[in-house]
Amino acid sequence: MNKYDCIIRKETKDDYRETENLAREAFWNLSQPGCNEHYLMHIMREHKDFIPELDYVIELDGKIAASIMYCKATLTDEQGNAKPVATMGPLCVLPEYQRKGLGKALLEYTFRIVEELGYDTVINFGNPDNYVARGYKSCKKYNVCFEGDVFPAALLVKVLKEDALDGRKWFYHPSDVDRPCDDEKALEEYDKLFPPKEKGWQPSQEEFYIHSHSAITW
Ligand SMILES: CC(C)(COP(=O)(O)OP(=O)(O)OC[C@H]1O[C@@H](n2cnc3c(N)ncnc32)[C@H](O)[C@@H]1OP(=O)(O)O)[C@@H](O)C(=O)NCCC(=O)NCCS
Repeated sequence: MNKYDCIIRKETKDDYRETENLAREAFWNLSQPGCNEHYLMHIMREHKDFIPELDYVIELDGKIAASIMYCKATLTDEQGNAKPVATMGPLCVLPEYQRKGLGKALLEYTFRIVEELGYDTVINFGNPDNYVARGYKSCKKYNVCFEGDVFPAALLVKVLKEDALDGRKWFYHPSDVDRPCDDEKALEEYDKLFPPKEKGWQPSQEEFYIHSHSAITW
């Protein structure tokens, strides 16, 4: 990353507003009119499942250009044995710096810390285009599903150790950290703290709908 003269470092309290604004710029109108990721970051930092050791930013040209956060989640097998896993997200890059390797750098940098913290599996929802090159595979390949045997197309699994999931069926239990984002009024109020932006439709919203409502059945 030297060619961009950038620094990967932990997020600090002083960064919060800038990082949230970055998320707002990156996610605005992407999956819905407006976005909620800046609010999610705000509530996530206070949530019991938040992993502060994995809260990183990239500083570039004197500003925060990229951000990554993680939460704790759980897999359980059919016998009820539980396994802690890390859930990645939000991950975002300022639009003018996208597709230059910053997202890749943050993922690869933090995967090492995820392992040091004792996790061998990272799971997240997302557009596979953004993740398969980082070694993520479909949840179906690792037999990871929701209760009811649903294998969402957007549920992606990255194993950091080859035998981490050993083929048995695992049920994924994500954190409830994003629940407050359903409160549209609270989101609207929080959004007022940021510069005005126009909500609108764009094709990526339909793409998101298709990805997030699809499941792998064979
Ligand atoms: C998605 C996002 C985090 C990726 O970060 P980035 O710095 O732009 O991406 P990178 O340059 O590191 O590329 C990561 C991978 O994306 C894919 N990619 C790169 N350019 C692409 C393009 N034009 N079209 C589709 N995929 C592309 C490649 O798989 C690439 O891996 P590679 O470098 O091994 O080929 C960033 O674009 C972003 O913030 N987007 C808006 C918010 C978002 O969608 N966040 C993720 C939620 S699922």
